[in-house]
Amino acid sequence: MRTQVAIIGAGPSGLLLGQLLHKAGIDNIIIERQSGEYVLGRIRAGILEQVTVDLLEEAGVAARLHAEGTIHHSIELIFRQQRHAIDVHGLTGGKVVTAYGQTEMTHDLMDARQAAGLPTVYEAANVSIHDYDSARPRVRYEKDGQHHEVECDFIAGCDGFHGVCRASVPKGAITEFEKVYPFGWLGVLADVPPVSPHAIIYGNTERGFSLCSMRSLTRSRYYVQCPLDDKVEQWSDERFWDELRRRLDPETAQRVITGPSIEKSIAPLRSFVAEPMRFGRLFLAGDAAHIVPPTGAKGLNLAASDVKYLSQALIDYFAEKSDAGIDAYSARCLARVWKAERFSWWLTTLMHRFPDTEGFGQRVQEAELDYLVNSRAASTALAENYVGLPL
Ligand code: APR
Ligand code: PHB
Repeated sequence: MRTQVAIIGAGPSGLLLGQLLHKAGIDNIIIERQSGEYVLGRIRAGILEQVTVDLLEEAGVAARLHAEGTIHHSIELIFRQQRHAIDVHGLTGGKVVTAYGQTEMTHDLMDARQAAGLPTVYEAANVSIHDYDSARPRVRYEKDGQHHEVECDFIAGCDGFHGVCRASVPKGAITEFEKVYPFGWLGVLADVPPVSPHAIIYGNTERGFSLCSMRSLTRSRYYVQCPLDDKVEQWSDERFWDELRRRLDPETAQRVITGPSIEKSIAPLRSFVAEPMRFGRLFLAGDAAHIVPPTGAKGLNLAASDVKYLSQALIDYFAEKSDAGIDAYSARCLARVWKAERFSWWLTTLMHRFPDTEGFGQRVQEAELDYLVNSRAASTALAENYVGLPL
């Protein structure tokens, strides 16, 4: 089989790239290791920057997002037992973020791909990439015991942090930067109305970080910072709700509506960047190239901006035989990636309890938060990063 762009991975990056290329008349095939149901079963973040919403519109998959997503004009910070709003909308000249689950967005992209009759191979085993430093790259995989080979012009590595694409690049050709944080996030999903339907709440307390988020007006997503070696089994629903309330201001704590969890998991926090993001005719996009800690919700949005740059570069290549976009791809992405890495690291550092900083660290964080909510300059810097820096 032959195609113009072979996309490895059917997460948000791969699906969105496939859709944008298809709109521009560029053939593509997606090869995914898991089943479609498995991909849809993963619980991920759900805050979209305006840039991401615009891109979903361009891809023609924003109808349900507009109907069901919730617009947030502000975010809220809790420290010293008090809740403070930051007017993101007012501070950024009218920009907002939209709460819409990544799972829903993935669903919309899958439906659009199916409706357009575009080829997607799910449950592909032993995917491998070959000759991406030549003009004729190839992808091999196995499906139902049969060997297959796809010949293509370009390979898009949209296969996430544990994918095969980045791992296939010779060690000497890639530089990796990493920071691992000394705690995790315990997340709970529950079918209860969110305590704060119009703003995400980020809490800094002496007991550790807390976060109140949502998937819809009837489904909430909450998190508390926890030790990395905690096990989910140690956290009954009751213990979780109790701990969450203790990490909120009294008024908010009192309004939390609890219910049985429908998902509960512990995730480590990591910052990671691989440079460059292009190797001949192989491009990395999304989690395959970089990871941010979830504080600030940049992971999905960075994946979307990589895909924007990559689709434009490939469209220019096929339409005008211009290499300019593909040559600039890595540097353009990394400039935006590092700014989001900086923001996510900063917000993580500001909001969490670190094992080695004790009381002094807590007071310094509270002083910075006090400055942040009372200084227009500092609030503006937070707000413009939160809604997403311009492309
Ligand atoms: N072959 C084929 N597919 C693979 C392989 C492989 N060897 N390895 C991984 N995959 C698939 C995974 O099963 C997954 O469906 O690649 C896909 C990668 O999807 P994601 O991990 O979701 O990464 P990405 O699409 O870049 O999404 C961006 O932003 O909010 C963050 O981490 C969150 O998933 C989110 C990401
Ligand atoms: C989420 O809704 O899962 C979420 C929201 C905001 C974050 C991180 C995660 O910063």
